[in-house]
Amino acid sequence: MMGDIEQLARPRLLEALEPQPSDALLAIIGMVRRDPRPHKIDLGVGVYRDAAGNTPILRSVKKAERLLNETQETKSYLGGEGDVRFVELMRELAFGPGTDDRFIGLQTPGGCGALRLGVDLIRLANPAARVFIGQPTWPNHIPLVTVAGLEVVEHPFYDRDTQRILFDEMMTALEGAQAGDIVLVHGCCHNPTGADLSPEHWDALAEIVTRRGLIPFVDLAYQGLGHGLEQDAAGARLVIAASDQALLAHSNDKNFGVYRDRVGSLHVKAPTAQIAATAYSNLLVLARTMWSMPPDHGAAVARLVLDTPELAADWRAELNEMCTRIRGLRARLADFDPRLAYIDEQNGMFSMLPLSPDAVAELRESEAIYMAGSGRFNVAGLSDHNVDRFASAVVERLPA
Ligand code: LMR
Repeated sequence: MMGDIEQLARPRLLEALEPQPSDALLAIIGMVRRDPRPHKIDLGVGVYRDAAGNTPILRSVKKAERLLNETQETKSYLGGEGDVRFVELMRELAFGPGTDDRFIGLQTPGGCGALRLGVDLIRLANPAARVFIGQPTWPNHIPLVTVAGLEVVEHPFYDRDTQRILFDEMMTALEGAQAGDIVLVHGCCHNPTGADLSPEHWDALAEIVTRRGLIPFVDLAYQGLGHGLEQDAAGARLVIAASDQALLAHSNDKNFGVYRDRVGSLHVKAPTAQIAATAYSNLLVLARTMWSMPPDHGAAVARLVLDTPELAADWRAELNEMCTRIRGLRARLADFDPRLAYIDEQNGMFSMLPLSPDAVAELRESEAIYMAGSGRFNVAGLSDHNVDRFASAVVERLPA
């Protein structure tokens, strides 16, 4: 009897949960793995592949890993800030030389960790801040902002059918933002469209952000894979230089090819060095409640690469090789059919095809070609031997 009463009084917990669909993008990894067809083409998740279709560890990274293995004497904790030298090097890579003590940064687990930490800082400082996000965007942007408790304002960014950036519509939306609202922008290699803001767009963005007191939050996850390290950071640098406060989430997963090591950093620019120091102390508290201390290996490797001149030069050459190969694939797709010409104007790993969901499913089923349901495909996943087969399968299915 007593047992029954206890049973009834027991509070519900797990029973209250609703089943969730699996992440549509990450689900492609499993679908490709299970597909036995040898000619399958995986253009789902953003991972670089070489001409032979492999994702090898970069030479410079492999050498730094050996060096680290030989020289690292302890695996003891580094502290909540992570690898401080790594963060310094990434600050220089993102902002160029000459940042001052209004800039602070923290190592994070990948670019996603940096975005989430940044959003949590915003919420702590101003829970009423709204985050303006152009559509379409990386599918994880909106969930990670809303789960942190901030309001998202979606606005147009790109029209998939005409392959145009909807900049006027974006500016109109930002005219409706209030001082202190956040503008989340892709620094380069827009994910999922490949459509990057032009220098004139960046100028206009810098102007509106300054005039209306908005705060840019730049997601810079593909630096070096669009046109090169400097050019890919130019827009972010411009808009952040124009603002007295800004955030930048930096990822090295792609540009060092260390995807599963989850290497990233969050950088914040504050109006004064003192406010920057306070923001830093808050970031340390927030990070402590999420991951306590970031994983070391990938960041230590990236630091060793950049701090060792021969390895740094080799990494730059390897990055350049990846960038050049992606540009070559884009040019080849553009040459294949005039309807694919826009792909050559875009940058980085992704572009989007104006395919119906049925056409995407059909490509998967009859051609073993995998891409996101939105029509986003990973250009860097194509190989010399399958690019033409891909292009002809796609062109056949484009709307008339
Ligand atoms: C992608 O967009 O494919 C990558 O950023 C992987 C991810 O985490 O979604």
